[in-house]
Formats: sequence, structure tokens, C-alpha cells
Amino acid sequence: MDAVTCTAPVNIAVIKYWGKRDEALILPINSSLSATLSQEQLCAKTTVAVSGQFTRDRMWLNGKEESLENPRYQNVLREIRRRARKRKIAGEGEEKGTSLSDALSWHVHICSVNNFPTAAGLASSAAGFSCLVYSLAKLFKIEGDISEIARQGSGSACRSLYGGFVSWNMGEKDDGTDSVAEQLVTENHWPELRILILVVSDQKKHIGSSAGMGVSVKTSELLRYRAEHIVPRRMKEIETAIQNKDFQTFAKITMQDSNQLHASCLDTYPPIIYLNDTSKQIMHLVHKYNDFCGQIKVAYTFDAGPNACLYLLEEEVAGVLAMVNHCFPPIEQNGDQHIRGLQVEELPI
Ligand code: PMV
Repeated sequence: MDAVTCTAPVNIAVIKYWGKRDEALILPINSSLSATLSQEQLCAKTTVAVSGQFTRDRMWLNGKEESLENPRYQNVLREIRRRARKRKIAGEGEEKGTSLSDALSWHVHICSVNNFPTAAGLASSAAGFSCLVYSLAKLFKIEGDISEIARQGSGSACRSLYGGFVSWNMGEKDDGTDSVAEQLVTENHWPELRILILVVSDQKKHIGSSAGMGVSVKTSELLRYRAEHIVPRRMKEIETAIQNKDFQTFAKITMQDSNQLHASCLDTYPPIIYLNDTSKQIMHLVHKYNDFCGQIKVAYTFDAGPNACLYLLEEEVAGVLAMVNHCFPPIEQNGDQHIRGLQVEELPI
């Protein structure tokens, strides 16, 4: 038996991926860009093992056995084994530990846990698939770019393979070989940058991102216009802003792009609504705070769910936290037990 354990963090997109041009290969209609949180924060931890004793491939997610029949898991496992077979034929990967021939003829067991709510719009699938693909690649001794494999599990997963700011270039080819993730800057580039996650709800979202994107691509003209005309420009502008550590430009584009994602969801027919009243209150609060400061000090962004991610600089964390706690004060529950209106996580990148 041979086993590998890895962790992979969540990433928070500032230019959002929404819509596929190829459902099977998960090829997007636009490029996207995100920051990967630092390790050990919101992350997935995955152990993969191969053994001659295992009778079939199996997987446990947060302690519960899940079916591996989902085509995304099948695609990932097939691609990993295909690449391993290629290495074996080339006479590579037999150096130490379990031989590739054994690993390829044995079944795999996967055990993964998230330290945050699954499928509540907190990019759980990104961390999960990134971690799974990275662990399998180590186990099967695969080298080279694996973001193409992670992408076939969950599009945004390809961005969690790198730290810092990472772009996922949409690519042009039909086979997806150029639709890969690339690190723009490392995690040390902008050390003052922080993310606050405001957990508005830890419930599962009513419509998953994949199903949502499918309807949006078919029905939203705004989404098509965005992909063709707006995202290419924004990608260039935000990349320059990140390179120059220009928070004003970075923050404005981040909020505009989040708003355009949710506008495209509303433009979808029938409409998709991920934001709730609390999400909208947070948006108003951020604009009020920035107006009061006379410049942009904090930016919000929302994925496919109501939870807010705030990007800000370290010097602003205390002020923003005070504002959030003031506007969403602790509420009393069961006599002396108190919970916050919002659960807040402060995270470095
Ligand atoms: O990778 P998926 O299928 O979970 O889609 C992620 C979509 C968003 O989180 C809304 C945007 C993004 O770029 O992460």
C-alpha cells in the first residue's frame, strides 16, 4: 500500500469564471483571476491510497462515503491513470516506493475533509478537486502541468494549485491543452492584503454553480457580452493593478466584476439569485464606509452564494471589523449563549 496526504486552500475570484464553452472538458467562456488563501486556513485535506487489497475505487467526503460515479471524478481518475501509463511506458516513475505498475493495477481509496461548509459558495469544490488532483499526481508520480486535470474536476480548482494571485487563461484550443492556470504573483508579493469572509449562511446553495452556468450560457445576453468585451479588458487592468499594488483600481474592478456576475445571474432566464438581504446590506455598508473614508478601503465579492468576501489592507481590518460587528451585532441565543450576527474569518493570502 502507498498513501499521500495533502492540503489545498480555497481561492477567491476577483474576475469571475461563469459559463462553459465545453461542458465535458470544462472549458470556460472567459478567463478568470483569483487569490489563493494561505495554507491551513479554509482548506481541504485529502489522503489518497492505492493497495492490492482494495477491491474497487472508493471515496469518503467529510466522513461519509460518496459515489465516484460522478463524471468529474471519473475524468480526473482516468486522466491521472492515462498520464501515469504514459510515464510507465517511457520507463519513468519506478524510482522509489510503490512501482507505477503496481499503482496502476490497484484500486484507489480517497478520504477528504473540508474545514469549512461544503457547497455554500465558499469554493469548496475548488479546494477539494485541487487537493485530490495534487495528491493523486504525487501518488502516481506525475510531473508537469496538472492544472488541466484539476480543471476537469471543477473549473476553479485549477487556480488553487498555486499560491498568490493566479489566472486561469481560457485558452483557444478545442482540446483544452491551453486552458490552464498560471501564477501571476506569489503569496509574498502583497503581504498587506487581507480577506475577511463573512459567513452569512452555511446552507447548501439552491442551484449549484455548474447548473447555474449552464442556464446562464443559454439565456443571458449580458453574460455573452461580458465574456467577449468586458472580461478581456478587466483581466489586463486588474493584473496591472495587482502588479503595482494599486488597491483603488484592484478593489473597484473586484466589486464591479462581482456585481456583473450577479447581474448576469439575474439576466438568466429563469433568473438565479444567490445574494440575500444580508449580502445586499453588506454591499451598501462597504460603499458607505468607502464614501466616509473618501477612497476605497474595502471591496466585496460574492461567489455562487450569499457569503461575502472582503478584500482590504491590514491597516483597515480593525475598522472594518468594528463596523461589521456594530451593524450585525451579536444576537442572544439560549439564554447566556451568544452568537455573532455574522461569523467572520480573517485570512491572509
Ligand atoms: O469551479 P466551479 O464550478 O465551482 O465554479 C466557480 C464559480 C464562481 O465561484 C462563482 C466564480 C469563480 O471564478 O470562482
